[in-house]
Amino acid sequence: MRTVYLNGDYIPEDQATVSIFDRGFLFADGVYEVTTVVDGKLIGFDGHCERLKRSLKELGMKVEIDRDEMLEIHRELVKRNNIDQGMIYLQVTRGNPGDRDFAFPPEATKPTMVLFTQEKKVVGTAVETQGLKVVSVDDLRWGRRDIKTVQLLYPSLAKMEAKAKGADDAWLVQDGFVTEGTSNNAYIVKDGKIITRDLSHDILHGITRKSVLACAKLLQMDVEERPFTLEEAYAADEAFSTSASGFTNPIVEIDNNMIGSGKPGPIGDRLRALYLEENLKAAV
Ligand code: PDD
Repeated sequence: MRTVYLNGDYIPEDQATVSIFDRGFLFADGVYEVTTVVDGKLIGFDGHCERLKRSLKELGMKVEIDRDEMLEIHRELVKRNNIDQGMIYLQVTRGNPGDRDFAFPPEATKPTMVLFTQEKKVVGTAVETQGLKVVSVDDLRWGRRDIKTVQLLYPSLAKMEAKAKGADDAWLVQDGFVTEGTSNNAYIVKDGKIITRDLSHDILHGITRKSVLACAKLLQMDVEERPFTLEEAYAADEAFSTSASGFTNPIVEIDNNMIGSGKPGPIGDRLRALYLEENLKAAV
């Protein structure tokens, strides 16, 4: 049985309970982060910590996040659950006001903070060599996707639509342009140039995205940050996605159109290798 963290305590997962009045449960009034663990160490920890602070600030949640204390909790969970490869999920909600009310509770209301581990092979997966198939789905999410909130119903529906069509994931499309994947950022490669949507309220500012674009710079690859259309994606030489738990994942089919040779492409592969090398060196 896992040991999880709930509001200051390390407890067995079956003893970790949260109120039915919790704002996270009633209003999806909460934010989260997912940090990947490789060789028992955390990848991109500082980036996730900074984004957590930003998400809380954007929603007016006055929760003090102390980087060292957060790191200590993450490490303790890795240790207690003996995680070699996997993820740590963290969620902070606006807490339990003791009733249901659209208005925010008084500021003194204690936030709810939960962390738990998930074991999962993240290095050496079948996806690395086989790639993923995606289908396009209308992006019907709200307008502040840069905030990492727990409102994940629409991405979940889109994922199910993709699975029903025999694909692995969905790329979300707004006004003909790809925004991002259900839980990852989206990229295409054309004539050696990497194209990915620019940062705005339309997409999550991926921690992996930032690191992968830095790797592209190190490799002197061309990067263009701008929206791209589905038609451009169909005609791309390569496509891939990035996320904390997937690093870079090759996309070999979009809406039944084979991308490039139908196999993971060289640019995505080189980026994945350098991303792993750099981030394993910097893991804490
Ligand atoms: N998802 N875009 C969306 C909508 C996401 O949910 C995520 C992450 C990303 C990639 O961000 P990062 O590189 O910081 O992981 C982009 C996480 C992994 C999840 O929900 O499980």
